[in-house]
Amino acid sequence: MPQPILIVHGGAGTIPEERHPAAMEGCRRAAQAGWSALSAGGSALDAVEAAVRALEDDPTFNAGRGSIMTRVGTVEMDALIMDGTTLRAGAVAAVRRVRNPITLARAVMERTPHVLLVGPSAEALAELLGLPTADDAELVAPRDRERWEALWRNGPPDLREVLAQALAEPMDTVGAVALDAAGHVAAAVSTGGMSNKWPGRVGDSALIGCGAYADDRVGAVVATGWGETLMRVVISKTACDFMALGLTVQTAVEAAIRLLEERVDGRGGLIGVDRMGRIGIAHNTPHMAWAWTNGETLRVGIRAATSR
Ligand code: GLY
Repeated sequence: MPQPILIVHGGAGTIPEERHPAAMEGCRRAAQAGWSALSAGGSALDAVEAAVRALEDDPTFNAGRGSIMTRVGTVEMDALIMDGTTLRAGAVAAVRRVRNPITLARAVMERTPHVLLVGPSAEALAELLGLPTADDAELVAPRDRERWEALWRNGPPDLREVLAQALAEPMDTVGAVALDAAGHVAAAVSTGGMSNKWPGRVGDSALIGCGAYADDRVGAVVATGWGETLMRVVISKTACDFMALGLTVQTAVEAAIRLLEERVDGRGGLIGVDRMGRIGIAHNTPHMAWAWTNGETLRVGIRAATSR
């Protein structure tokens, strides 16, 4: 049986130098949180949920606490979790006032007959289950409030300026993939989305195959980056399909990122694990914070060897 392993990321983009230590430290802590779940006998699913919760609780990242704002100054989050054993998945989209959207996504998978709940329906499930809440003031990072206020100071900003600014910022969607001792894989992803997005906008992180995919027969992949482009190449499933065709996980995530760039001029990053416990990391942005651990070794970085 392959050795269990877990890998996390804190988002792809241009991460300012002064934020590198916090991004790497946050990933290290999340990898440790995920590993604690695995080493306590938890499943890959438990591990990716624990890792993503740690990233959601860390205001360094654009997920849970630290989420960026919509163009009307609210926080709307997307999250998805997928179990590679059964291909079951749960997701929430454009959800507000929930502290850990990944736990709500898991509840959609395990406590409802559905795969994806949006907005108020998802919030009603969180309330029914008594999941911790947080209002926008707790969720938004102060740096994003300042950025948003500056952008809107003189009325509605120019749309091209908004997109340019969103793409220039770190897109710190967070994610994790894991392989457990029983040979099962799982994937989880969570995000506050894209800055200045329209309310109701849903990105790749809520959509199976786009933000994440997991299949015990192949492996698991999660994505980060510009959701509008990641969705159009169904990037996580595409990378899994490349693995199923015989590519190594590293070659598969690199090929999927190349496809993203060539076909839709997209920007983003991927992490993946195959069913043997080999891992892959690729991005076409200047940075992507990541960490992986197999219990003996823990490695942290902010650039894949293949990044440019
Ligand atoms: N990748 C996160 C988003 O675009 O919403």
